[in-house]
Amino acid sequence: MADHPEGSRPLWGSRLGFILAAAGSAIGLGNIWKFPYITGENGGGLFVLIYLGCVVLVGLPIMMAEILLGRASRQSPVGAFAAFSRKGSSWPLVGWLGVAAGFVILSYYSVVAGWALHYVLLSLTDHFRHLQPDQVSGIFDTLYGAGDINLFWHLLFMLSTVSVVLAGVQGGIEKTCRVMMPALFLIILLLVGYSLFLPNDGFLKALDFTFTPHLERLSRRSVLEALGHSFFTLSLGMGAMLTYGSYLDRQASLLKTSLQVVLLDTLISLLACLMVYPVMFSFGLAPQAGPGLVFKSLPMLFAQLPGGLLISLAFFMLVVFAALTSAISLLEVVTATVMDRAGWSRRRAALVTGAAIFAFGIPAAYAGDGRLFGAWASMFGMNFFDTMDYLASNWMLPLGGLFIAIFTGWVMPEAARREAFGAPAGRAWLYTGFVFVLRWLAPLLVLLVLLHKIGVLQELGVMGS
Ligand code: TRP
Repeated sequence: MADHPEGSRPLWGSRLGFILAAAGSAIGLGNIWKFPYITGENGGGLFVLIYLGCVVLVGLPIMMAEILLGRASRQSPVGAFAAFSRKGSSWPLVGWLGVAAGFVILSYYSVVAGWALHYVLLSLTDHFRHLQPDQVSGIFDTLYGAGDINLFWHLLFMLSTVSVVLAGVQGGIEKTCRVMMPALFLIILLLVGYSLFLPNDGFLKALDFTFTPHLERLSRRSVLEALGHSFFTLSLGMGAMLTYGSYLDRQASLLKTSLQVVLLDTLISLLACLMVYPVMFSFGLAPQAGPGLVFKSLPMLFAQLPGGLLISLAFFMLVVFAALTSAISLLEVVTATVMDRAGWSRRRAALVTGAAIFAFGIPAAYAGDGRLFGAWASMFGMNFFDTMDYLASNWMLPLGGLFIAIFTGWVMPEAARREAFGAPAGRAWLYTGFVFVLRWLAPLLVLLVLLHKIGVLQELGVMGS
């Protein structure tokens, strides 16, 4: 495919390249670290079912809306909103909100990815063997408290992310995802395969936990959590898919490509459960371990399994690959925006935005240290790290998603929207359904989540906690 058929906008080298890059963005810590532990906390099967419903009803349409906006405008988020609204309107602010969210998310995402790098090193040196369970979980507590070590890995991870984005859409992002995503699929399949053979019916119990719905285990909060997570895991609400969509050729089917990305993301989340839970169950543990699941419980168990070194090495490599292909999409949004707005070269934009995000992430690296920024926790009741995660995933992304749905459903001119959707002949109902969901269903559901967070619904007596 030609490199610059439309002015100076680069395009993906192939459609598979786009799918792998977008799936690379979507598949990340959210799938491998977060999904298994929130599914565990929310009782398994029924939560998974509700989560799937959210993905289909809200996630897929908003992903299509983002890709549509990017492809039709050939711009990063700010320019995309400007392109389809009146001159001087405030819609471009939604683009800036997305850029800010990308900035904030990447700053702490990189610190978590840094933990995984640390664990790759620990696995390589066979550090977990011969340790008692409480010593293994102590490793994480020590790491969390050691700001300097976190800072080192944060720097290394940001340098890797910048070096990919620097190399461009095809030569950097696409090329990296073409190597790392197949590697990721292979590793996860091998690990699930390994889990099949664990003692005490670990795998069967995991299957049952993940797929059998149990009504009594679900609270109303779970529904909201499922919807919130579907945003994070699909990289929605801040213009990441929009920016990737701006490099997509006009012939690619919007529905088909989005569906492929969503399916891959969901598949990996479910496989992550089938890889993590059997280990827990075969040791007689419940999967409710919370955020420490990946960095505390698993290494402890790996240490006692045959081939533990290889298993834990493969597992943490998987986490690093997943995190890196997501991080580059976060940085790409910020970098592309600076390039489009200020006319900077990719090189300069990537270096400067990468450095700024690194600096902004320093307090997150020291969140557990207490020597620096200790005052933050006493001021806000959470440390810097948790504050940023809370702000971004609970507020910025749902708000961004709400505005993206409203903008595409109500504000974007009908003619432009219809053309950008490109419904195949005889499938007009697809377009009608798409617009209906964007106008009504998606905003309503997201609004419900936001109102619940502010506590309005509780006050009206509509919903319990
Ligand atoms: N989706 C990624 C994950 O599951 C994280 C991520 C990457 C993201 N880019 C994003 C989340 C943009 C929200 C918006 O880990």
